[in-house]
Amino acid sequence: MTNKKFYLTTPIFYPNAKLHLGHAYTTTISDILVRYHRLVGERTYFLTGSDENTQKMVDAARKEGQEPLVFLDGIVAKFSSLFKELDISYDQFIRTTDRKLHWPGAQKLWTKLVESGDIYKKEYEGLYCTGHEAFVTEKDLVDGKCPDHGTVPERIKEENYFFRLSKYNDTIKNKIESGELHIVPQARKKEILSFLGDGLQDVSFSRPHRADWPEGLGIPVPGDESQVMYVWCDALSNYITALGYGRDDALYQEFWQDNEARMHVLGKDILRFHGAIWPGMLLSAGLPLPKTLLVHGFITSGGKKMSKTLGNVIDPEELLAEYGTDAVRYFLARHMSPFEDGDITRESFKDAYNAGLANGLGNLASRIMQLAQTHLSAPVKLEYKPFPKEFSDALDNFEIHKATEYVWDRISALDRKITETAPFKVVKEDAEKGRAIITELTTELAFIDQMLEPILPATSKKIIEAIMANKKPENLFPRKE
Ligand code: MSP
Repeated sequence: MTNKKFYLTTPIFYPNAKLHLGHAYTTTISDILVRYHRLVGERTYFLTGSDENTQKMVDAARKEGQEPLVFLDGIVAKFSSLFKELDISYDQFIRTTDRKLHWPGAQKLWTKLVESGDIYKKEYEGLYCTGHEAFVTEKDLVDGKCPDHGTVPERIKEENYFFRLSKYNDTIKNKIESGELHIVPQARKKEILSFLGDGLQDVSFSRPHRADWPEGLGIPVPGDESQVMYVWCDALSNYITALGYGRDDALYQEFWQDNEARMHVLGKDILRFHGAIWPGMLLSAGLPLPKTLLVHGFITSGGKKMSKTLGNVIDPEELLAEYGTDAVRYFLARHMSPFEDGDITRESFKDAYNAGLANGLGNLASRIMQLAQTHLSAPVKLEYKPFPKEFSDALDNFEIHKATEYVWDRISALDRKITETAPFKVVKEDAEKGRAIITELTTELAFIDQMLEPILPATSKKIIEAIMANKKPENLFPRKE
């Protein structure tokens, strides 16, 4: 046991539509990291949730002819069922419409910013893109439209509260440069430093309360009920409100205040919010900053960003139904680098499944356990061994694909070893020698299985149970034609 702790968060997802494979990616790599830290004996806390006080959700609900709050419950139920199917071991799912769990902390944080003199009122005119839930500038547009969402932003003129983010520009920059706020990978660190190099602008941090929003949506600005908090100000605070900031400080103390490992996983499109606005808010409130931001790339399909219009969206539910949980986890872990964009097509998924799981791991476990079941009179004795350095180093550096590749190298090596040592022949000539080889192969399978636990938890359990029962497991990964 160690007394180390590990706090990891995913972004909170917009509940305006079902989640796609890109969202499943963020959550799955987060889960692998948390399971690894849990397995080595650290105390972990894993947070995910949904970002609900948004115009895009209200628009989506109205399009479906539903009351926004009813619509929300329906979508959030789908999020949880997807996460369950993906075997995501989160400790808490925070919803930003939760008035008991989220609002008190968000309002307390706001009050801290006010006390620091960092909130001021200003008349503002700008272009608001609902897709981004952010103001955009003319130079962000192509033919008058937001290139990411294909929509014309709304021109808004209103009186808002502003956050004095510009004041923290240099402090944030220094902390990122020095690695005190560690941004992974290096290319994303450079990107945010160059953004900070241009100088941060103050940000609009509230919107007038919208008459067409139902009661219970949008966090009122403390002391001014005519305004609600800007959705990113509200959303970012979830990382501490969920732990109890502003209401019950025990978990907050344990995992934010007194913890060295505070980590956010996020996609590259939301780096500026996490690498500039969030640290600015925490600095203003006098709270510790996160330690690490792991910024991953995008999943593309057929070389193009997944999008409904292009018709290349891959629904994780579809893959889960056809191939099962661990097949999806396997693909995301091994065939995507967390640091770059990665491509998937239904074809490449099937090929990866057949090669790595049906012919690879599944076949190996079945060959070895067939031999063990036939020739060993009792299960092999299992011993806990620490993870190999290559494997832990990769995971400590968030190189999930490398750690997974390492496990599959050992799977191939063990496959070759069966062929080279030919236990099925040896056992006929010299039973004792044959049994010794089979014991050795089974022990190595158990060791590989230990490394599979954070990546493919259900499969790892099946294999270890087969080893302990000295029985060939069911067909783990049937071949797909
Ligand atoms: N609600 C905000 C996050 C607030 S966090 C305080 C948001 N939500 S989102 O639902 O649009 O996206 C959630 C995460 O999914 C982001 O990290 C985003 O980068 C990620 N992905 C969305 N599409 C993706 C791919 N195609 N590939 C990989 N991840 C992508 O942003």
